[in-house]
Amino acid sequence: MRVEFTVNGARQTLDLDARTTLLDALRHHLHLTGSKKGCDHGQCGACTILLNGRRINACLALAVMHDGDDITTIEGLGTPEMLHPLQAAFVKHDGFQCGYCTPGQIMSATAMLQEARAGWPSHASAALQGPVNLSDTEISERMSGNLCRCGAYSGINAAIREVAAGADTAEAAE
Ligand code: FES
Ligand code: FES
Repeated sequence: MRVEFTVNGARQTLDLDARTTLLDALRHHLHLTGSKKGCDHGQCGACTILLNGRRINACLALAVMHDGDDITTIEGLGTPEMLHPLQAAFVKHDGFQCGYCTPGQIMSATAMLQEARAGWPSHASAALQGPVNLSDTEISERMSGNLCRCGAYSGINAAIREVAAGADTAEAAE
């Protein structure tokens, strides 16, 4: 089946078996191997990408379901010369060890910060409405779909906390 979508700003047209997952389309057909395959069952978050700005597990999506959609992978977030703030913060805070989960962690954190800024509550939130205070508990809960077998969680949380605080500061200055 023919499918067209935009990946990291570039229009892509692929001819795929209808059973091809979005993750396999990205990795095997477009050679964007930043998104990782961990469990292939929606349980580890290594394959997290942004679909129309929202985070999803690419291993659970069929590529042909996303004709016309806008996809961002880790390759579209920053560059080695100009890291995205979350990428820089992960480096600064040692938010990884082997690095296998890291692209998924960073994509998930990108969307999570937007969700928090939009006031979306989580299971750890004290109230269903109002501004979200991204405490360590909130960050852990909101990132609970992304597993790290190396246990780099303290660095991951520190990186996200720093970027969240920077975003709050920038918002207050506006
Ligand atoms: Fe998609 Fe694990 S590979 S959630
Ligand atoms: Fe190794 Fe997270 S850094 S799995």
